[in-house]
Amino acid sequence: MLFGVVLLLTALIVTVLGARRLTEDERVEKWYADGNVWPPQWQPETEGMKRLMEHREHEIMTQIYGGDERWENFLQYTQSRAVPAFTERGFDVVPIPKKIFEKLKKAVEVGIENWDNLRSEGNIDVIYHDSDKEPKFVDLGPLQRETINELKTMHEDWWGGGDLKATSAYGVRLYLNGSSLVMHNDKVHTHVISSIVHIAHEYDNDDEPWPIQIEDHDGNLHSVNLEPGEMLFYESAKCLHGRMTTFKGRYYGSIFLHYQPVDPQVWNWHVDDIINLVPPHWSEGIDRSEGKGSRWCGAAMSVDSRVAEGAPHLKRNGEIIRHTVPHNFTAIHPPPVKNPDSGEWLLYPLEEDVSVNGEEL
Ligand SMILES: [Fe+2]
Repeated sequence: MLFGVVLLLTALIVTVLGARRLTEDERVEKWYADGNVWPPQWQPETEGMKRLMEHREHEIMTQIYGGDERWENFLQYTQSRAVPAFTERGFDVVPIPKKIFEKLKKAVEVGIENWDNLRSEGNIDVIYHDSDKEPKFVDLGPLQRETINELKTMHEDWWGGGDLKATSAYGVRLYLNGSSLVMHNDKVHTHVISSIVHIAHEYDNDDEPWPIQIEDHDGNLHSVNLEPGEMLFYESAKCLHGRMTTFKGRYYGSIFLHYQPVDPQVWNWHVDDIINLVPPHWSEGIDRSEGKGSRWCGAAMSVDSRVAEGAPHLKRNGEIIRHTVPHNFTAIHPPPVKNPDSGEWLLYPLEEDVSVNGEEL
């Protein structure tokens, strides 16, 4: 009996210790012991991607002083450099198979006809919206599972890396007027090969669509408009994505599908792996008095060049340093370049002299 209790206690202690997060000193020690170097050599990167990543780090280190916000930005940044790429560009737009699209469209139409009965999704960390514009949700019932199962083979054909396991189907989410979505990388373990299946939208003005922004494997930022009946395949743990402009319209409805490679030799990334790869210098210059940080928004990127409209302004010591200004992205935005003489970054200039609603900085 006593022996049994001791065994149980030992097992408990091992379990607790095993699950314990490393201290920062231990994490840094492990980082070096594992042979990491900086800039990292984990994956092959094109010249464009290297420039984008160098610029990203420059922005994180010079704009973000709150400890939590700095850490979250570094986690996202590290994840996008750590995990491998599979497809040529990282995303593609294709038509949704007609049969399943018709079913989804019907379900959304029924939901919209019963607008007042649609449930609200509540407040979501990564979406900016007015307080009365929380996203709505159309419950699909069994059609949700049918969709993710039915489209699995298409995802396997697209990424070309073998069998996939469906890990999550979410939607239909209806974003409402004034929403924007922070730029982020998806959950590294389960959201590997994904798609946004776009079903319906109602814009105020068709000339003002609501594109998704996504980075490709060469460091370009794309703005992609989806039409109802189109779906976006994307490597969602690898490619930073979001919707940095605000949506102007009544609703924008999509379902999100996520898959994970079945073979653990191909993909066995966990969030702890990413944590362990964050470089030791991430915390240099952190200002403890800044708390979480002025634009902290959970697991997302909040530097100027990737901040979503609707985000709080960039502040330091309670003073606004820069307003979050509206973005105007072209369809494709190349990676930043440096002035060869001065070494200054030429693209994504910091918004030093803007006025917003007549209010000068
Ligand atoms: Fe996402």
